[in-house]
Amino acid sequence: MFAKRTNWELTPNRVAGILEGYKSSGQKILDLTQSNPTCCGFVYPQDELLALLSMPASMRYVPSSQGLLSARQAVAAYYQSQNIAISPQQIFLTASTSEAYSFLFRLLANPQEEILFPAPSYPLFDFLVDLNDLKSSFYSLVYQGQWAIDLGELENHISVQTKAVVAVNPNNPTGSYITREELKHLNRMCQQNQLALISDEVFFDYAFDSSQRFVSCAANTDNLTFTLGGLSKTLALPQMKLSWIVVNGPTDIVADAIARLEIIADTYLSVNAPVQNALAAWMNYRPAIQEQIIRRVAVNRDYLINSFANYDAGTVLHADGGWYMIVKLLGGVDEEALAERLLLRDQVYVHPGYFFNFSEESFLILSLLPPESVFIEGVKRIIARVKSFNSSS
Ligand SMILES: Cc1ncc(COP(=O)(O)O)c(C=O)c1O
Repeated sequence: MFAKRTNWELTPNRVAGILEGYKSSGQKILDLTQSNPTCCGFVYPQDELLALLSMPASMRYVPSSQGLLSARQAVAAYYQSQNIAISPQQIFLTASTSEAYSFLFRLLANPQEEILFPAPSYPLFDFLVDLNDLKSSFYSLVYQGQWAIDLGELENHISVQTKAVVAVNPNNPTGSYITREELKHLNRMCQQNQLALISDEVFFDYAFDSSQRFVSCAANTDNLTFTLGGLSKTLALPQMKLSWIVVNGPTDIVADAIARLEIIADTYLSVNAPVQNALAAWMNYRPAIQEQIIRRVAVNRDYLINSFANYDAGTVLHADGGWYMIVKLLGGVDEEALAERLLLRDQVYVHPGYFFNFSEESFLILSLLPPESVFIEGVKRIIARVKSFNSSS
């Protein structure tokens, strides 16, 4: 009765079972996977944000395939604040970044063709690819003091089936931005093989060092490029469901891409009017919201780095931005068994590396968003557990 693409493994795994047990018994855990900003104790200008949702203009339905002009102007102003000139004509609004990916996959690839993704990276890609009847192929990010794209391997993975290369800038969970040099190589490979570049920049604003200048692909005119952003991270409002695609590249191909994308977006018209009408004024709260997150991320990150500084069982990998840090465990620890034991014995929930498609063991991925007290206690318990885990296994 059902399509093969929905033949997922639906039985809950052991970790889901343990979490369910805690939930039904009401026992609190220290959740260091928590990356839902609305659950992390940040103070939002709630009255102001909600008041802006009740604009009278929202009572009129104005179907617009790319999204309302005022909202697209607000997105263009966001890029202008980073000295990137984008016209509202180059912008499409979508209900989520995931929806933006789907629109682009429909635009670029026929069934069974391929999209190249980074690994390690964000675990939703497999589902997005399956749902669009595509295939995924992965290129590696390699760590040598910092993360870099294995450009040779990426090039080897390009075949006649490949239609687009996805870059996540900065990547989740490695926290690595694309360098200017890497972008130059990506552009060359895309041009030679007629590939589009898709750059997911939802975490772009969250650089650890604000004085460092990173490269946004929104300004990339050398190759057909789609840059994704959205409110789930930029305003830490994932529930408001608004993201965007910026289309850039050589003029002719951009015009063709926009004309085709317009039909796709027009078929769904999925972004609601109240959020679009609120967007320009909401963007004024960006500094107030982002400052809290940047401060929290800095405190938790410092604590993590200092805690592991004199500890030889694990090391914290270098990252430049985003909401996550990676701990590499030394001495051949079974990351999955450790994560399960942390949850069962210590009530600390962390993701093992395989969740983010790491090709080898042993890594733990920690969200930096939880309140400091939760994060610090969680890290203390991780360190204590890793010590006893190493000697017991
Ligand atoms: C790299 C990356 N892109 C996109 C998203 C999801 O964005 P949205 O909520 O807009 O679909 C996430 C969510 O964590 C993410 O990590």
